[in-house]
Amino acid sequence: MRILVLGGTTEASRLAKALADRPDVEATLSLAGRTEAPAAQPIPTRTGGFGGVEGLATWLREHRIEALVDATHPFAAQISRNAAEAAQATDTPIVAFVRPAWARATGDDWREVATLDEAARAIGATPRRVLLTTGRLGLSSFAVAPQHHYVIRTIDPPEAEVLAALPDHVMLYERGPFDLESERALMARERIEVVVTKNSGGTATYAKIVAARELGLPVVIQQPPTRPEVPEVADVAGVLAFFEAQRKG
Ligand SMILES: NC(=O)c1ccc[n+]([C@@H]2O[C@H](COP(=O)([O-])OP(=O)(O)OC[C@H]3O[C@@H](n4cnc5c(N)ncnc54)[C@H](OP(=O)(O)O)[C@@H]3O)[C@@H](O)[C@H]2O)c1
Repeated sequence: MRILVLGGTTEASRLAKALADRPDVEATLSLAGRTEAPAAQPIPTRTGGFGGVEGLATWLREHRIEALVDATHPFAAQISRNAAEAAQATDTPIVAFVRPAWARATGDDWREVATLDEAARAIGATPRRVLLTTGRLGLSSFAVAPQHHYVIRTIDPPEAEVLAALPDHVMLYERGPFDLESERALMARERIEVVVTKNSGGTATYAKIVAARELGLPVVIQQPPTRPEVPEVADVAGVLAFFEAQRKG
């Protein structure tokens, strides 16, 4: 079975690992190419955009793909939409390997927002010490709130002009997973007063939510966009069961 996995997530890497051992599967992992040095993968990888819905549809046809897995990040809304449309246009079975968003637990002090612009405003007018973990690409939203001290954690360095708009900042270049002890230590060491994050779901970056809860810190949290209507599974076993159903059907 020829499979295309749209990735860039820990879920996609986990699936790639499971597929690498299967002689009955010929899988390709697709990455957007945002990260300079992506983690090594055990299956063939292609990198870069396809060129919209049409480009992806052409790729599916040319490579005679029999199943498409959307294992992209919950906030990667465009590629998920494109995948749903290209699958429909080419009659390719599609499944989304979805990571449920985090649910608010007792003790969480969350301010839920829909966009990063809203997140920047929600930090408030008074200068605060902010742990900012929303990723390199949305940082320009925070230029409207330069009064804060930002501890910014990203995988790759942001563009210089984006950082210039945030005069009081410290950069941390780190890739998850992060454990509770180190998140607690980071927030204490940097005297963090508010955490700003996406509600990315999953376990790899959940420790910051627990640490904030324990320390009684408010969390400004961007909620994920709505997903296109395609069948969803929540684990590798679910994806494999989907392949099996396609094979039988
Ligand atoms: N957004 C986040 O917070 C976040 C966090 C962690 C990881 N990621 C990963 O980073 C990648 C980019 O995220 P994004 O939010 O920039 O995506 P996006 O806004 O949904 O996608 C923008 C464009 O990037 C290309 N693209 C995205 N994912 C791709 C993939 N897996 N393979 C090939 N092309 C892809 C597509 O270009 P064409 O239209 O030219 O095909 C797409 O239209 C995704 O793979 C996602 O899983 C995103």
